[in-house]
Amino acid sequence: MANLLARKTLDVIMAESAEHGQNTLRRVLGPINLMTLGIGAIIGAGIFVLTGAAAAKYAGPAIVLSFILAGLACTFAGLCYSEFASLIPIAGSAYTYAYATLGEIFAWIIGWDLILEYAFGAATVASGWSGYVLSFLQDFGIRIPPQITSARGEVLVNYNNHWEHLSRIMDTLTSQHVNPDSLPHMSAYFDLVAFLAIIAVTMVLIIGIKESATLNSAIVIVKVSIVLVFIGVVGYYFFGHPVQFWTNWHPFLPPNQGTYGAFGWSGVARGAAVIFFAYIGFDAVSTAAQEAKNPQKDMPIGILGSLVICTILYILVSVLLTGIVHYTSLDVSDPVAVGIDAVPGVRWGSFLVKIGAIFGLGTVMLVMLLGQSRVFYSMSHDGLLPQWAGAIHPRFRTPWISTGLVGGFVAIFAALIPIDVLGELVSIGTLLAFVIVCAGVWVLRVKSPDLPRPFRTPWVPVVPILGIVVSLILMASLPFDTWLRLIVWLIVGLVLYFTYGKKHSRVQVGQPAVPAAAPTQSAR
Ligand code: ALA
Repeated sequence: MANLLARKTLDVIMAESAEHGQNTLRRVLGPINLMTLGIGAIIGAGIFVLTGAAAAKYAGPAIVLSFILAGLACTFAGLCYSEFASLIPIAGSAYTYAYATLGEIFAWIIGWDLILEYAFGAATVASGWSGYVLSFLQDFGIRIPPQITSARGEVLVNYNNHWEHLSRIMDTLTSQHVNPDSLPHMSAYFDLVAFLAIIAVTMVLIIGIKESATLNSAIVIVKVSIVLVFIGVVGYYFFGHPVQFWTNWHPFLPPNQGTYGAFGWSGVARGAAVIFFAYIGFDAVSTAAQEAKNPQKDMPIGILGSLVICTILYILVSVLLTGIVHYTSLDVSDPVAVGIDAVPGVRWGSFLVKIGAIFGLGTVMLVMLLGQSRVFYSMSHDGLLPQWAGAIHPRFRTPWISTGLVGGFVAIFAALIPIDVLGELVSIGTLLAFVIVCAGVWVLRVKSPDLPRPFRTPWVPVVPILGIVVSLILMASLPFDTWLRLIVWLIVGLVLYFTYGKKHSRVQVGQPAVPAAAPTQSAR
């Protein structure tokens, strides 16, 4: 039993983070790069797609409270991530933090769990991205055969000259008294757009971290500008027509309709669990710790800075969106576009928002895939995964094999699996990581109180406990099926750990971890 809880000492971790040379990652990222990496990962399908349905089905105008609640949960976790990322600036993020504090079995569980967040997260976003691209191309009369635009088995119908997912427009068809059987329809078999998007992003990631970060920063500027245009245009309109907004905001908290989650306070909680997805990504900044020039100082700036900026943007967007359009009209796949279109005289709004979503979702995929390959890199470094998974390309200095393999698998997932199943799995996996990171900060404060911590989480243990409690509450409001899938996923992971990881772990055999790609150290 003691072996399962073997810990990787901080001395070894610090020595690894100080390594340099051809077999290590390149330290090139400054505070602005790190902050834009965070914003790149955060702003995406959550705000551009999920906000509308969450307001229409669960919270009404009080969706802003859901955003505040989810933002608070993320702030507690973000403070804990910041302490760890500045203290243990290693690419493995939550996986490494668990290794240093709770022991190997927890580290494995969290490393395996992070696949749900990063790899499945990228696949989920790729599917959403393909939907936006398709709709954008159709606006210009460009048609791609619908069979290769969605996951296998998804039914598409041709409505108003656009191919749409039947499941997503069912409510619209019902309200318009249109019989779906009367529309041309077909089944998709492969989402080529999502597949190609992931392959393209993977290639950028292999070519270099600096190139990836620069591309990410450029795109982040575009998408944040578009969110700001929405806030500016709708905000300006508010000052001329406050009555319209006050009318739509009333009642602010629609009364509960008799079941948990259908409006009222439980609806605010359910809304928070759904739009939590919109915040996922700030923690991915911590996976770039080994590529940061000055991680002790800059990691907290990257993590907390991106979180604060996005929280403010989300609150403004949700307030204005539920003011310009009545919440009952927001259950659509492009609510932000619908919102800006509602401002009289703004003809280009929806075009602009679609551009923002297409770019925005692109960087989410980029940072998620970056995070996944860095976690695998660290696990391979420790012997829990085979050495080749951590091999660094001699010229690009990126973990090219794990990046390529992850990209290949994620591209296939994205092309074949419907996104609805994946989205909630991503949220539960991320929340579990938050719980372990918050617990880890507390444990390390007790076990090693005197470590020099460049960033200290305030009010320990209150903040970690609040982080754990709020994350567990959000996990509890996810469906039972999602819990079941999480449990099956973790069992599969444990089988792999006992058949491979435990036998090859460098900590178990008493060897310090080494760069996995170094050819001479395979003394196994
Ligand atoms: N936060 C990311 C998004 O909303 C995952 O797409």
